[in-house]
Amino acid sequence: MYMKIRLHMNENFFLEREWLVKIIARVLDDIDPRVYPEPFSEDVRASLAEFYGVSPDNVVVGAGGEHIIELVTKTFGRGHRVLTVTPSFPLFDKYANMYGRGVERVPLSEGFDLPVDEIVRAAKRGDVSLVMIDSPNNPTGRQFDEDKVRDLVEKLNERNVIVLLDEAYADFGRYSALPLVLEFSNLVILKTFSKSFGLAGLRIGAAIASKNLADKLLENLPPYAVDVVSQRALKAVIENHDYVAKKINELRRERSRVFSKLKEIDQIDVFPSDANFHMIRLKSMRSSEVCSALAVRGILVKDLTEVFGTEEYIRVTVGTPSMNDEFLATLKNILTST
Ligand SMILES: Cc1ncc(COP(=O)(O)O)c(C=O)c1O
Repeated sequence: MYMKIRLHMNENFFLEREWLVKIIARVLDDIDPRVYPEPFSEDVRASLAEFYGVSPDNVVVGAGGEHIIELVTKTFGRGHRVLTVTPSFPLFDKYANMYGRGVERVPLSEGFDLPVDEIVRAAKRGDVSLVMIDSPNNPTGRQFDEDKVRDLVEKLNERNVIVLLDEAYADFGRYSALPLVLEFSNLVILKTFSKSFGLAGLRIGAAIASKNLADKLLENLPPYAVDVVSQRALKAVIENHDYVAKKINELRRERSRVFSKLKEIDQIDVFPSDANFHMIRLKSMRSSEVCSALAVRGILVKDLTEVFGTEEYIRVTVGTPSMNDEFLATLKNILTST
């Protein structure tokens, strides 16, 4: 079978498919598909609470990070404006427009940093009830400094504004802001198991928040949102997390290797990443041309034209060493042969 090299969705090919399939096969052996799953994923909630060092009352489990974003916007964004930074994950805008009264956008500052005071000012001006931020940021790959995140959450707490901190990629980053959840009652942290846990195809994610916020989210969470296979598989992967941790370390090492190789290419700039992808600025060709030329050769990467409004940027997942070598060689070839 001709397989495309998928470097456009930030999936995680470091976790071996066979390892995950074995876990899922064991789950399948043990379940009865005629029976409803636990309505609010109670068992996996308890596992996640232990894993993250919080109480099950702080954990809400949904059908993927995207479902959590929808749930948070539906619960805390209704009737108000929702603020996000630019660039960030485009689905923030989608759900803010669906449930809120439109979106306020604050551009990231120099070096793609978190503009704390601008966000606080814009939140005040715009009757904002919810601020959504991804850190590490998609697409820049930058994880905002911990003290800036804390400062933002604290200042918005004084104004009763809820913060959704999307940590989809934090396991690849320098820290997790999770302890702040026990300190600030306005913070919801999003975790997805599609990235560092390699379970994108199963659809499971979680919100970690104060009991008060988690209870509000639970009121809007439909029962049986997460199927039994996803619930049980996540529990089993948590029980075998040593392997996941080992693979995260391998991925970080590979990220450094790929970064150094990308740095050597004169026709591009590459940005340091705390996530499982790199953002690249193209100096000599348009992003659509590069993406099409790679696609023709079986390599998929993300064109960021819609995010930046200019045809300069692409985002490329850190794949396995062989996927990355193929990408690097093909990219060089495309950039030097025009
Ligand atoms: C920043 C960010 N948040 C959330 C998600 C959603 O992940 P999922 O719905 O697979 O859990 C993604 C997926 O790419 C993402 O990049």
